Amino acid sequence: MLQEHSKVPILPILKGDAYGHGAPVVSAFLKSRGYGLLGVSSLEEALSILQITPVRLLVLTPPLLDQLAPLLQHRLLATITSASIIPHLGRIAKERRQYVTVHVKVDTGFGRLGAAPDELVDLVRQIQKTPYLRLGGVFTHFSVAFSDTRYTQQQLRTFLALKDQLTKMGTYPDLLWHAANSAAFLTLPASHLDLVRLGTLLYGQSPVSLDPPWDLAETWQFKTRIIEIRTLPKGHSVGYGRLFRTKETTRIGVIPVGYGLGLELEPQSTPWRQIKQALGKGLKGQHFVFHPQGPLPILGRVGMGLTSVDLTRTPDIQVGDEVYVAMRRVTASAHVPRFYYQNGAIKCIYWNHKIFSHGQWKTSSRGLFAKESLLHYDSAPDAHSRCGQ
Ligand SMILES: Cc1ncc(COP(=O)(O)O)c(C=O)c1O
Repeated sequence: MLQEHSKVPILPILKGDAYGHGAPVVSAFLKSRGYGLLGVSSLEEALSILQITPVRLLVLTPPLLDQLAPLLQHRLLATITSASIIPHLGRIAKERRQYVTVHVKVDTGFGRLGAAPDELVDLVRQIQKTPYLRLGGVFTHFSVAFSDTRYTQQQLRTFLALKDQLTKMGTYPDLLWHAANSAAFLTLPASHLDLVRLGTLLYGQSPVSLDPPWDLAETWQFKTRIIEIRTLPKGHSVGYGRLFRTKETTRIGVIPVGYGLGLELEPQSTPWRQIKQALGKGLKGQHFVFHPQGPLPILGRVGMGLTSVDLTRTPDIQVGDEVYVAMRRVTASAHVPRFYYQNGAIKCIYWNHKIFSHGQWKTSSRGLFAKESLLHYDSAPDAHSRCGQ
């Protein structure tokens, strides 16, 4: 388990619907494993978790004015990045006679969210003198911990200097100072501080290459099924825009997955990657779809709900066969049911923001994603409690 690798507590990050895994289920699981505080990216995400799993949540983005009331109502921990929100938060907290814990985010070089380093002391003082506000922590975020240790060390030095400054002021002995994400956790132990905020690593991937004893488990697989197979003659066009034409008699298979469910929505990280992808598309199609018998090149343009793949070299594949789609987990739509397995058996399903229990499904529905989803399921009252363990 990940905690065994860390001397300091882990704050699991559940941004992006737990990196696509279904945040309510993941939070129930983590809670059952003893994690007391989880990090989310927005109020909405926090509420979607709390509907199913009561747990303490730190919202990692600063609230807007009209989010302060629900923030307090749901007892969330808030991120503060500027002084302007403090009087408003203080006023609502006082009206409700409710203490709010806040963490201040400081920008040590990321260039996105956060107070500037030289604003921190004032900001902290203002929080301190506002009744009902409690300063729980100060944090920063690294931008290149996966590739540039020097820059990350520089960010860390800035952060530690602020820590020294506040510590010398003497009034904040219990503050949690946190900085490390997965990459910094692996590459820069000095950044571990009071807790580490882990996302990528928690979900079985590493931002940097790893040696034993690391043995990360794959947590995600996107499966769908072939819904139609046809043979097209040489010179036939495939799909919208007629971008692809067969160069020989071609056996095509159709899968019920397209950009509407997230296929091909992964960010184009570099211009070079974009060029490579564009070339790949034009020349021979992309290998985003796989079958144990081999990769299945995508033919033509990915549609909203349907995509064609080349089955010419895999003649044994039949209608109804399962194939794997290399789709980024965070881009896979919430309309795709998530199946959770334990010891090889399905434990529960998360679909359209609801948890369904194994054993409750009945008649055949569409079965588009995996053989298991052939089944039409009803929500079970005890699904949630069974799912999270
Ligand atoms: C503020 C913050 N902390 C921690 C993380 C976790 O990062 P990682 O997935 O690299 O562990 C994120 C993710 O983007 C984040 O925004």
